[in-house]
Amino acid sequence: MKEKRERFTILVKKARDIVNGQLDKDEKLNAICKLLRDNVSYYDWVGFYLIDKTRERELLLGPFEGEPTEHVKIPFGRGICGQAAEMKKTFVVQDVSKEINYLSCSPKVKSEIVAPIFKNGEIAGELDVDSHTPSPFTDEDKAFLEKICEMVSKLL
Ligand code: SME
Repeated sequence: MKEKRERFTILVKKARDIVNGQLDKDEKLNAICKLLRDNVSYYDWVGFYLIDKTRERELLLGPFEGEPTEHVKIPFGRGICGQAAEMKKTFVVQDVSKEINYLSCSPKVKSEIVAPIFKNGEIAGELDVDSHTPSPFTDEDKAFLEKICEMVSKLL
């Protein structure tokens, strides 16, 4: 969809300005969550999970926008986030009710996409988006979120 592509192009530019701006790291990550959540109608929860190098194979909740989640620490392999970390690739689930290895944050969530952030070839974190809309994600969302992750990588 052309409209979606144009919107994502503008958001990539705005995210780049945030990354290159004057805020501190967590403020930048939070500003990106807010930018995405405020400007994409079906992005209902947007957050970063980060990898603390002292704790192996564990994701730790970083800055996010949306309702608080109980899933603050997620081991690699568990849930959609843990699977994306294990496989080192973007994981798209259009219907979370069909995903057996899933950690529910809210019954309102219908779909989820998780993109990994790489640093020097290693996974350093993830960008997680939950949606209350079923099957909203296209290849454009995947490419967009991967682009954001690529830009965010230099902050980690
Ligand atoms: N649903 C995720 C857990 C994190 S929340 O969506 C914020 C999962 O299955 O890994």
